[in-house]
Amino acid sequence: MNVVITGASRGIGFAIAEEFAKNGHHLCITSHNPVKLYKAMEFLQTHYGHEIHAKAFDLSVKENAVKFGNWCLNYGTPDIVINNAGVFKEGSIAEGNEGSMEELMNTNFYSALYLTKTLLPSMIEKRADIFLTSAPSHH
Ligand SMILES: NC(=O)c1ccc[n+]([C@@H]2O[C@H](COP(=O)([O-])OP(=O)(O)OC[C@H]3O[C@@H](n4cnc5c(N)ncnc54)[C@H](OP(=O)(O)O)[C@@H]3O)[C@@H](O)[C@H]2O)c1
Repeated sequence: MNVVITGASRGIGFAIAEEFAKNGHHLCITSHNPVKLYKAMEFLQTHYGHEIHAKAFDLSVKENAVKFGNWCLNYGTPDIVINNAGVFKEGSIAEGNEGSMEELMNTNFYSALYLTKTLLPSMIEKRADIFLTSAPSHH
């Protein structure tokens, strides 16, 4: 299967990517920091030897979420998309600053919306699955 995973350089996203790679699936992965992302890609390729494509994007920017989606389509229609990229922001709604809330929503929520909108037309036909693990919550 073709699997798209955001925020796959580390944490939950990397663990999900490793499970799919172990089971022989093809991956398109992204995260913000290119160094961490390519290290993750190298690890997966070295250990599991499957087709792993990686390209870094700041997904908090709408145009980048769309670009990542279009880049993934070069490798075929995805069967599964895992929207996982996210940031965690400390602080209550009462005390937190609006900028950090906006960054959280842009990264954890809107990136998933725009990536999904880009991929959805081709995925509907295939009856593919879309998951959201990023949490748009503020503590
Ligand atoms: N851990 C928890 O207890 C928990 C609970 C509920 C929900 N979640 C959600 O699950 C997701 C993963 O959590 P985690 O604990 O594994 O997080 P993590 O270790 O901090 O990893 C976050 C991932 O998202 C990427 N990312 C952050 N900002 C980005 C941006 N602007 N553009 C592209 N990629 C970006 C990071 O890339 P870089 O490496 O480049 O920074 C990294 O790959 C998050 O969305 C979080 O909200 C986590």
